[in-house]
Amino acid sequence: MQTETEILQAAAPLLLSWFRANQRDLPWRKNRTFYTSLVAEIMLQQTRVEAVKERYVAFLEKFPTEKELALASEDEVMKAWERLGYYSRARNLQKAAKTLFEEGTPRTWVGVRSLAGVGDYTAGALSSIALGLKEPAVDGNVLRVLTRLLADGSVIDDGVKRKFTQLLRAVYPDSTADFCEGLMELGAIVCVPNGAPFCEKCPWAGLCRAHLAGEEERFPVRAEKKARKVEYLDVFVLMCDGRYALKKRGAGLLRGLWEFPNRVAATSGGADLPVGVLLAKKTAKHIFTHVEWRMTGYLIQVEETTSDFVWATAEEIETLYAIPSAFGAFTEWVK
Ligand code: ADE
Repeated sequence: MQTETEILQAAAPLLLSWFRANQRDLPWRKNRTFYTSLVAEIMLQQTRVEAVKERYVAFLEKFPTEKELALASEDEVMKAWERLGYYSRARNLQKAAKTLFEEGTPRTWVGVRSLAGVGDYTAGALSSIALGLKEPAVDGNVLRVLTRLLADGSVIDDGVKRKFTQLLRAVYPDSTADFCEGLMELGAIVCVPNGAPFCEKCPWAGLCRAHLAGEEERFPVRAEKKARKVEYLDVFVLMCDGRYALKKRGAGLLRGLWEFPNRVAATSGGADLPVGVLLAKKTAKHIFTHVEWRMTGYLIQVEETTSDFVWATAEEIETLYAIPSAFGAFTEWVK
């Protein structure tokens, strides 16, 4: 029987040929610099490829090099990041851009890993893709592909991640960028989660232990997830003479972004409303990694503006104030 390393050794060249013929046309795969790869990888950390595609191009038009991003104001950066969510990534990206601007591009995995917002996976991706280093990037997608290839039924944890990082390092080909993105690509378009993978299109169909046993969907094996906490929130879109009340979020989740006045509620829908004319009401839900917000929104016309809020026009909200996508259902009321 072949060892795991032997299987991976046979798998690597098949993956490279397949990737070169089948990769998607994605904007960050053209005219790469370390900086453009950094922007792409940070955006892709918690956001789908389709959503990143649009925002990546616009972001680079606004901040074409680390210099423009390093010198921008926080509000400009947040505005350019709007709708991508997980905004601490934007703040970290700007910090990393400052490091590149002041100290130049890192040359080692350790140098890349020390940039703000860069964990083991992103450090591996940037090292392989932008620096030509043989440093694996192992995330959930890569683990799915590899646990299936090797029919490895271990419960996924950091130890399993380390094991696959070592295995990959031992077989890493010289085409580090294609190998790294090939693994990601296979996980994204062939060896997909949630339902049957497209094994008939897979370059590894003849090697894959899970496929040969007809058991693709048994892998990867995951520990049970903790339930997400539910929080109820009343959100008030206060309107006065074509202006809307906003405030800046303080510490914690979504820090530094702008929001409509809101408060945590005991359950949905039972709010004491601010004084004014209620024009509309609707509910919306937003899921973060650990928390689910169940929101009830109220559009209320008020008599007077008050000094505890910024009162912004629809146009100013469109161009200047970054409002988290969690409030997207209520931003629709701003016209
Ligand atoms: N996900 C994370 N990095 C990626 C990349 N470079 N290409 C496609 N999907 C990715």
